[in-house]
Amino acid sequence: MTSLETIVNLSRRRGFAFPSSEIYGGLRSAYDYGPLGVELLRNVKNEWWRSMVSARRDVVGIDSAVIQSRRVWQASGHEAVFTDPLVECRGCHQRFRQDRLPKPDQCPGCGRSGTFTEPRHFNLMLRTHMGPVETDDNLVYLRPETAQGIFINFANVLRVSRQKLPFGVAQVGKSFRNEITPGQFVFRTREFEQMEMEWFCLPSEASEWFEYWVDARRRWYLDLGMHPDNLRIRPHGADELSHYSVETVDVEYRFSWGWDELEGIANRTDFDLRQHAEHSGEDLSYFDPATGTRVVPYVIEPAAGATRTTFAFLIDAYRTEQVRGSERVVLGLDPRLAPYKAAVLPLSRKPELVEPASRIADDLSRRLTVEFDVTQSIGRRYRRQDEIGTPLCVTYDFDSLDDQSVTVRHRDTMHQDRVAADRLYPYLVEHLGL
Ligand code: GAP
Repeated sequence: MTSLETIVNLSRRRGFAFPSSEIYGGLRSAYDYGPLGVELLRNVKNEWWRSMVSARRDVVGIDSAVIQSRRVWQASGHEAVFTDPLVECRGCHQRFRQDRLPKPDQCPGCGRSGTFTEPRHFNLMLRTHMGPVETDDNLVYLRPETAQGIFINFANVLRVSRQKLPFGVAQVGKSFRNEITPGQFVFRTREFEQMEMEWFCLPSEASEWFEYWVDARRRWYLDLGMHPDNLRIRPHGADELSHYSVETVDVEYRFSWGWDELEGIANRTDFDLRQHAEHSGEDLSYFDPATGTRVVPYVIEPAAGATRTTFAFLIDAYRTEQVRGSERVVLGLDPRLAPYKAAVLPLSRKPELVEPASRIADDLSRRLTVEFDVTQSIGRRYRRQDEIGTPLCVTYDFDSLDDQSVTVRHRDTMHQDRVAADRLYPYLVEHLGL
């Protein structure tokens, strides 16, 4: 199983993610995505959007503000109950989340037992103030989930999109939580990205749709190449359910520290729409033409973490193998997720190879994300591309000058094909499965 350390090292060395504010000692709360990480993260979000929004006629997207009225969070219940139990060790004064302590009575910081304070409810929302004066009247929160931005726009979307029940509204964006113990690299951070969809349906059909979305979401991970042995669906026990949910499952990944959550899928009932209707005074019901009555829809919510899922795809794709007595590191990412779809590599730095190879790269980059690399030996360049997950390498050599062809090397099999330069793009598309 790939260790956390291996992935952290790969990420820093190759440029997937760096600790935020690293030159000032780093913030454990947040990470900056480098040139490769930003492509991988974007590909994960695009694949989610494609399957949840673009490929469906019954789901539309929105992009709501991070800062919303404080009343949103009063209505949703987050101001009152979005808390974790916080304990402090009286010996070393470190603070911990009580429900995540490895041993309930022993401080993981200093090892003493019986030193914890009584737990207190610590609210996870990050706060700031709107405008120049810091008073309670202009207190606002950075959203801890993207979901509420969807509920408060329910009537707007219904009015403009002409959707009929059942339908979904999706959103991808940043969320913020003042986690007591961020950690495990980008797994738990205070600033992160979510991919959430609220599926509005008739209350009588909610259980059926819940099953539908659990299955659809499970298949999404598997279709993008996640190993089935590393993925499981775990139903929540009654004591774990959030304040808004009557039924929840977690989609979990087998990390090096054990099974942990990638996504929660919840039946939120009509809790949120009713809360917002009551607090705002707006009618958030739906007129059902079939029965001629008004109904407050139930909501099934698949809520995934974009940054956390990206991290899991990275771990899942990592493998090492022996090739002719030396170790080869391969990131076997699905081509749809790979940061670069292809790399164009002139065999030498000589201008007669670099110039035509560069023209090929320019031509491909109009339609595919490609890298152009002239440094080091061809063997080392292949190894680098294997390690960052590039599915295909295109080598322009001295024979190319005569036969107008290039060598295409496949990441997973290391098999090589000679391909006419003017057939290169269709060849790549076919072998990438795009
Ligand atoms: N709207 C429901 C909701 O937010 P959640 O289970 O609290 O549900 C959904 O969050 C997903 O967001 C989680 O499954 C996880 O992938 C991601 N997530 C939550 N907190 C996170 C954190 N501190 N760092 C990274 N990802 C986080």
